[in-house]
Amino acid sequence: MFDLVIRGGMLSTASEVFAADLGIVGGRIAQIGSGLGAGAREIDAEGKYVLPGGIDSHVHFAQPSGEGIDMADDFESGTRSALFGGNTTVLPFCLPEEGQSLREALKAYHAKAQGQCYTDVSFHLIVTDPSEAVLGQDLPALVADGYTSFKVFMTYEGLRLNDGQILATLDTARRTGALVMVHCENEDAIRYLIGRHEAEGDVAPRAHASTRPVAVEREATHRALSLAEVAEVPIVIVHVSNGEAMEEIGRARARGQKVIGETCPQYLMLTARDLEGMDWEGAKFVCSPPPRDEAAQAACWRGIETGVFDLFSSDHCPFRYADERGKLNPRGRTSFRHIPNGIPGVETRLPILFSEGVMKGRIDLPRFVALTSTNHARTYGLYPQKGTLAIGADADIAIWDPAHRRTIAHADLHDGSDYSPYEGLAVTGWPTTVILGGRVMVEDGALLGQKGAGQYRSRSIPGMAGPTPFRQETTG
Ligand code: URP
Ligand code: ZN
Ligand code: ZN
Ligand code: ZN
Repeated sequence: MFDLVIRGGMLSTASEVFAADLGIVGGRIAQIGSGLGAGAREIDAEGKYVLPGGIDSHVHFAQPSGEGIDMADDFESGTRSALFGGNTTVLPFCLPEEGQSLREALKAYHAKAQGQCYTDVSFHLIVTDPSEAVLGQDLPALVADGYTSFKVFMTYEGLRLNDGQILATLDTARRTGALVMVHCENEDAIRYLIGRHEAEGDVAPRAHASTRPVAVEREATHRALSLAEVAEVPIVIVHVSNGEAMEEIGRARARGQKVIGETCPQYLMLTARDLEGMDWEGAKFVCSPPPRDEAAQAACWRGIETGVFDLFSSDHCPFRYADERGKLNPRGRTSFRHIPNGIPGVETRLPILFSEGVMKGRIDLPRFVALTSTNHARTYGLYPQKGTLAIGADADIAIWDPAHRRTIAHADLHDGSDYSPYEGLAVTGWPTTVILGGRVMVEDGALLGQKGAGQYRSRSIPGMAGPTPFRQETTG
């Protein structure tokens, strides 16, 4: 007797599509096959796709910021929105505040997440202070405790690291087996361009994109790849926005480097012209790197189709638009450089790729599963407990109705922001039932699951997941 049987659906993993029933016991997948026995509960998935729950390995929730600016999502609203968008695991960042150690920051993030989550969560560590003590002691201890990925920034005052600091952080990754994600934009070049634009009085949101042109991202991408080559470590290039940065990834791979590439919906669906909206409305689209043009969008689609990109993440980094403590903060109104960077998108990531990618024939269903779930689990040490449909794996599942049509409207979404950058976009296909650890969390647009059902998940060393790490402990 199963706890739950999903009957008659079309299953897909990252490698194959097949018709089967799926039986769940104790929160894990217990059997996959035809004509399974009865379940205490049964779901009819006739005409639907049964996919591994989405894993969004790049989201920002409840991050502190200076200047009195509030992030629009905490762990409750952020994971609720993720869940409704077909996700069962998210990987937000842990950003230490000034003077705070990473261990103290993690304590604060665990406190913010505890009992609040609708999806499972795990944290990446943002390295802002690569001191000898941090690199030599703190980070190795944290990696041993299951925090196995770091992010470093080449831009943003207060966050950016110089080349020596990046190399030292990569070296810690080399010694510990952790994986480093890099935000590639040349801060000095950006500052130079900001100075020129402000001197000309060109301060509207559109200048955000003009001061972060492709060259700024391409140069930093090349440099990050070179530093990883020197340090002899794999590297993740996050939120790639254009073809020239993609070419850098291709060249590094051709030289034999292990590079993981990530892109996001904004680089497929938006352009810099979206930043030109009237009355500062362009602020809604301010994110870094900025959206580019149609040629860059086409290049990013090619990267999705041909394998330059392994990861399709949202980079959900939500601020409210019509809010003095969000995008329209009083300082933001004086210059684009004070508009908080980041846009919401955790709930629309999967429907956009499903509709624009699978339904329009650009990618097949296994590639969709790889880009949105399996590769995230593999890259960040959650596989095969997560990211696939296999016996013994967590029963984290999204059931998709490929015939469901809707027009994206923020009023129907579940995040804490007050707009969607994709308002008005018509999509075909939506995750109508979402199951976390065997529990039906969302069904036909209704929230059935409880806050707190989502758990913190410790991770293995990336790429080192054993064949059966199913006994990995979870802690609260
Ligand atoms: O504009 C963005 N992407 N904000 C989020 C922070 C980051 O760099 O990922
Ligand atoms: Zn970034
Ligand atoms: Zn200008
Ligand atoms: Zn980000």
